[in-house]
Amino acid sequence: MKHLLSIDDVDADEIRSLLDLAEGFVEVLGRDVPKVPTLRGRTIALLFYENSTRTRLSFDRAAKALSADVLTFTTGGSSVSKGESLKDTALTLQAMGPDLMVVRHGAAGAPWRVAEWTGLPVVNAGDGAHQHPTQALLDVLTVRRHFGNVAGIRAAIVGDIRHSRVARSTAGALVALGASVTLVAPRTLLPVDLSGWGVSTADSLDEVLEDLDVVYLLRIQQERGGGDVFPSIAEYVGRFGLTRARAARLRPDAVVMHPGPMNRGVEIDPAVADGSRALVTQQVANGIAVRMAVLFRLLAGRVAP
Ligand code: NCD
Repeated sequence: MKHLLSIDDVDADEIRSLLDLAEGFVEVLGRDVPKVPTLRGRTIALLFYENSTRTRLSFDRAAKALSADVLTFTTGGSSVSKGESLKDTALTLQAMGPDLMVVRHGAAGAPWRVAEWTGLPVVNAGDGAHQHPTQALLDVLTVRRHFGNVAGIRAAIVGDIRHSRVARSTAGALVALGASVTLVAPRTLLPVDLSGWGVSTADSLDEVLEDLDVVYLLRIQQERGGGDVFPSIAEYVGRFGLTRARAARLRPDAVVMHPGPMNRGVEIDPAVADGSRALVTQQVANGIAVRMAVLFRLLAGRVAP
């Protein structure tokens, strides 16, 4: 593996092998000194053209827990406002000598272009509505750590699927590992073409609620037009929100996941977000271990840490 650009490029065996590696890093992160010297002397560049809280901080934390140095570029305060292009920005960062670039950009395909221009290993940290492969890996790690397996798990991904790189990526990883996935959304928030996804669809959460092991909620991506295609937030919550009443109808062992950022009171009731079923903070913590595994695999090969 030279890059991690799309979860579709990673077969089921490779996903399992990355999850096994991540389990080792979960153990490292639980030590008194949560750090290993594996990537000492290496530099990871973070190139973030879109806002991010979890993804950027956890790549930073992951790189440092492997003893790598980190160079962070965000558009705010940069020369992008002076008209500098993505290509020139990527080449400028490359001239500073990083060994790998992590790229987030609003345009689908941008990380592939950075890989071509720089020749460096690139990790896609989210490109438009297209792919977010490390989110997929941290989600399947979270499911596997909670239930002991992913095969046979019944999951629903609920909300603005059309504009969601998380849905595209996480559904792919769940299906690859043998889970069954139902997409639950207004028709206007489903992708036009679902061929190749290997999923089923439902028109309301009530149709599937009682059969689920995992309810995976998504934010409505207002910035990509997600809010413009249904009548009102109240109508949306009425059919697709995980309200307290709906959460009470879930199977006793069902869990609730969300990639963040959450919009409390829309896709998820605040009490459900804070409740014992929610794995949201475990997802964040597992994200560090998964990103350590990816950086390790791309920069240090297959030898155990
Ligand atoms: C998301 C993203 O940016 O793709 N968050 C994340 O990375 N955990 C989802 C979103 O913005 O809704």
